[in-house]
Amino acid sequence: MKTTTCSKRYTSPYEFLPKSDSRFREAFARDVAMSESLTTTAASERRLAPGPKGSFLLGNLGAAREDPIKLFLGAAMEHGDLVRFRFGPRIGHLVRAPEFVRHVMQEHSKNYGKQTPGYRRVQYVLGQGLLTSEGDFWLRQRRIAQPGFHRQRIAGFGETFVRCTQELMVRWQEHVASGKPIDVLYEMMKLTLRVVALTLLSKDLEQDADAIGEAVSDILMNANERMTAMIDIPPHIPTRKNRRFNKFLRVLDDVVLGLIRERRKDTADRGDLLSMLMLAKDEETGETMTDGQLRDEVMTIFLAGHETTANALTWTLMLLSQHPGELRLAQEEVKKLGDRALTAADFPQLTRVRACIDEGMRLYPPAWMVARSVAADDTIGGYHIPGGSICFTSPYVSHRNPNVFDNPLGFDPARFLDGRSERWPRFAYFPFGGGPRLCIGNNFALLEASLILATMLQKVRLELVPGHDTSPEPSITLRPRHGMKMWVKPA
Ligand code: HEM
Repeated sequence: MKTTTCSKRYTSPYEFLPKSDSRFREAFARDVAMSESLTTTAASERRLAPGPKGSFLLGNLGAAREDPIKLFLGAAMEHGDLVRFRFGPRIGHLVRAPEFVRHVMQEHSKNYGKQTPGYRRVQYVLGQGLLTSEGDFWLRQRRIAQPGFHRQRIAGFGETFVRCTQELMVRWQEHVASGKPIDVLYEMMKLTLRVVALTLLSKDLEQDADAIGEAVSDILMNANERMTAMIDIPPHIPTRKNRRFNKFLRVLDDVVLGLIRERRKDTADRGDLLSMLMLAKDEETGETMTDGQLRDEVMTIFLAGHETTANALTWTLMLLSQHPGELRLAQEEVKKLGDRALTAADFPQLTRVRACIDEGMRLYPPAWMVARSVAADDTIGGYHIPGGSICFTSPYVSHRNPNVFDNPLGFDPARFLDGRSERWPRFAYFPFGGGPRLCIGNNFALLEASLILATMLQKVRLELVPGHDTSPEPSITLRPRHGMKMWVKPA
């Protein structure tokens, strides 16, 4: 890696000034000049990557706000594997080629951190949990949590995945009879929330599911708006939006802190992730985690651990309803296992079901974009990446890369079964990220989603209501913008 360290560290001096303030415009112009100088000095040795032209003031920010998927996908189609953007005063690059993604996520991951405006804003909700923390603190927490996700332990959760799905299938019989459609996204959110709370925190949150679901949706929407806003107004400033945000955050905090309080009263080791976090002691000081630290970790598991899987299942169910041939193949696989309750031991036989989920996440990766802050100047593919800028990897864009995938836009689960996927380079397909920050819940999610989908296929067939708008909303996660209205039919 070329590390000509850039001493000018870009910070935004106008973050909290109203746009109408003349100081805002002056500071903005200064910012643009500074970021341009970061990338144009010694231009002879700093080749700039190509990218779409934007407006003088905002660069590509307007297009990013309007439709970030269109901007990113279109730019990669036009400009290739490394694309340069400007968002207001900030420079950003999108990397698409597997070797460039590997450079950022794995080989030079120390230079690509989490101090992005996006992650800073996610911290309003998750604090310093596993997803958002960095350095030694993150490493310590990851080591504590890792055994909670050991394969054998996850296999023990299979019974809960299946039981909760079977209970849902019983409730859905009412819809089979009435012909009233369901919102599959809402149903999957409730199911995966229940599952993650039962398995990792030993708590049944079924009664609170509606309130939690509403709070999660609203908070995600708010976090998304913050991400593309030029000026972030931190939650303690009582604007109308912030008051609403704080109200919903309190709903989640009450649930999470209530859970921690309950456990403090009865300190017996329940063998779940929460016990692991509560009982872990600092090797040097012997101290255990404070309630604040526990809150951040539990909130992270709670949110990162259900929303993503629910989206993966929802998109896969949509795709299966649009591809009856693929649905039939998955149903036949499940049928071979009989009517009994499935277990984790059936997972190796559910290869087609798993391939449908893998392919669903190729086309609609729940974490559609993963951003990093660039610490020091770097060079990727011969192009200059300035320190202080942002680097985007996007599973959504990379998974549609025509240089890697045949029929990149087609739903073809067989590509995961017939040896084609084995020929893809590492980081061509990366729905769970990679490198040191690889998703800790990847095996959990794959077993969970496979057993849930297979159990559903035993009982029902979902049909998309004709005319329902299935367009994706590229929020922090990739959700169907209008939910997913489907009819429930007998299998
Ligand atoms: C289909 C489901 C899932 C997808 C697509 C997904 C995707 C991801 C991705 C892409 C990252 C990396 C983010 C980055 O590098 O900035 C990540 C991290 C993480 N995920 Fe997942 N995830 C899923 C399920 C889960 C589940 C079930 C859990 C927990 C029960 C979980 C917990 C986490 C945590 C704690 C991190 C941060 C890990 C670290 O940095 O040490 N995820 N996930």
